[in-house]
Amino acid sequence: MNQTNSQFENHRWSENLLMKIYKEKDHGSAYVAQRLADVISEKQKAGKKAILGMATGSTPKGVYRELIRLHRDEGLSFKNVHTFNLDEYYRMLPENVMSYNTFMKEHLFDHIDIPAENTNIINGDLELEEIENHCAEFEKKIYDLGGIDIQLLGIGRSGHIGFNEPGSATDSRTRLVNLCEITRNDAISDFNGLENVPTQAITMGVRTILDAKEIIMIAWGNKKSEIVQKTFTGEISADVPATYLLTHPKVEVILDHESSAFCNKMLPM
Ligand code: PGA
Repeated sequence: MNQTNSQFENHRWSENLLMKIYKEKDHGSAYVAQRLADVISEKQKAGKKAILGMATGSTPKGVYRELIRLHRDEGLSFKNVHTFNLDEYYRMLPENVMSYNTFMKEHLFDHIDIPAENTNIINGDLELEEIENHCAEFEKKIYDLGGIDIQLLGIGRSGHIGFNEPGSATDSRTRLVNLCEITRNDAISDFNGLENVPTQAITMGVRTILDAKEIIMIAWGNKKSEIVQKTFTGEISADVPATYLLTHPKVEVILDHESSAFCNKMLPM
């Protein structure tokens, strides 16, 4: 059923996928933060751990800002939370300012009461021969904790989720991958030149992501409108790994007016 509110429109895209289009991305971010907070509180009440899959990049920054506010102003505790990040650049020291380890500390972990030992981010500073073991341990840790309750995702202009670039197999697991040209080009300004952008990364696999009980994918702005259209109007294919989300039983896609431009022509408002 489609619903309209002054802040957003809900579109039931398929039985498994709800698309929410926000007028303001801040409202979309606040909604996502509240969804995560609800999972955390619910688990807390049941005396259980909440297992969250985290994303980096510009997309989830507003969600993390709101989670920090909920912690500071509304007493949301993260003591029962365990996190697993999608990916890390290779090769990258965890303490490098450009690492996703640093990103997560700056944008979330340093501002909430999550125990440091509960945060899991892939180590991007391993020797090649150490990677396979590290990835297997990362996967096992997720499994041993009972799996990811809710996974946050952005989408790259290449169609990647995590760093699963075009060609990634649906049954792929956490592994070392090559970054595609679109992804590396999009990181030029962050790294001050293409020559400084890593060529590889270690990422959760497509199957690792799809194993999450629930997934929330977010895309903001004009820059993402073309790939969002391709993802939700094309065939499910390795050419656009984000299309694999259509095979998951419980997905929400959070868009703003710009990233959802194609919907204006397709959906009854
Ligand atoms: P961005 O990246 O949030 O910086 O746009 C998203 C992604 O590549 O998944």
